[in-house]
Amino acid sequence: MIDTTEIQVRGTEREGVRAGITPARLDALSRDIMSLKQELKAVILAHNYQVAEIQDVADFVGDSLGLAQQAAKTSAEIIVFCGVHFMAETAKILNPGKVVVLPDRDAGCSLEESCPADRLRAFQASNPNFYTIAYINCSAEVKALSDVICTSGNAVRIVEAAPPGKDLLFVPDENLGSWVIEQTGRPMTLWQGNCYVHVEWTHANILKIREKHPGAPVVAHPECTRAVRMLADEVCSTEKMVAYCRASSASALIIATEAGMLHRLRRECPGKIFIPAPTSHCACNECRFMKMNTLEKLHDCMANLSPRVELSSEILKRARAPIDRMLEISAR
Ligand code: 13P
Ligand code: SF4
Repeated sequence: MIDTTEIQVRGTEREGVRAGITPARLDALSRDIMSLKQELKAVILAHNYQVAEIQDVADFVGDSLGLAQQAAKTSAEIIVFCGVHFMAETAKILNPGKVVVLPDRDAGCSLEESCPADRLRAFQASNPNFYTIAYINCSAEVKALSDVICTSGNAVRIVEAAPPGKDLLFVPDENLGSWVIEQTGRPMTLWQGNCYVHVEWTHANILKIREKHPGAPVVAHPECTRAVRMLADEVCSTEKMVAYCRASSASALIIATEAGMLHRLRRECPGKIFIPAPTSHCACNECRFMKMNTLEKLHDCMANLSPRVELSSEILKRARAPIDRMLEISAR
């Protein structure tokens, strides 16, 4: 039997505690952000892992692919990007003439850290036949060294579209890469990087929560290890999780991805119960980088138009082509 009250209240408490500010202050900040947005003719793009109060003031909330597609087509003069740094960089690469601000410049990503551009360059030199497919969770410098970019939402399609006869190098997520090999049957050399959040779930954690909630399908992100993915009823990007949960006849679902996703799912599927998959030491799992962004920092970055994403014209140019290739293949 699922204790829904416990699950829902726990979510609300966490959001309140993290914000560390009163509901009245949250409301005032949200109102100020809305006025600033109009004044600046800005658009606020937010990733599914952002805290609830940021998702609630955003113009668009989605996965990395949706956010890149929104950034590619926005007519707004200023882009306010609530996610991690590589995501804001992608928006800048797609809009070199616009101002792109983000609440916290230090919001990084363990996958990005695992693949420094100089190490990738040296590895590429070992095989001139490499065709490099880079998961979007990497720096602009790494994108500039790649042939095409992919996200978790389109990785299978991007790999299927890769030129035959080339040796595929997939960077930097070994777990997403191995999942794509399973789906496509196309061999690839995998960079040994991973997401520190998603590798925390173990086979045992998932078995335990599944036993507690029999009948609740398990939905997992492809950044999870194979041992976890093999227990999942669905493996997909965060945006596809919304579609899967909406279409599912189940009234309760177990979600193995970052906890911010639960707010988005509860908003989109109000009648359903979402159970965070626990790790060995916590009832859910958060990305410390995604959680560096707060409503106050969002307000301040809009008020000061800082911090901004700045990239050299050389990187802007070289990183653009593989992103455009991804967007073109995704639109086919
Ligand atoms: P999605 O593109 O599926 O939202 O994934 C982004 C991410 O950082 C997962 O950890
Ligand atoms: Fe990077 Fe993992 Fe955080 Fe996603 S959840 S931004 S992959 S560290």
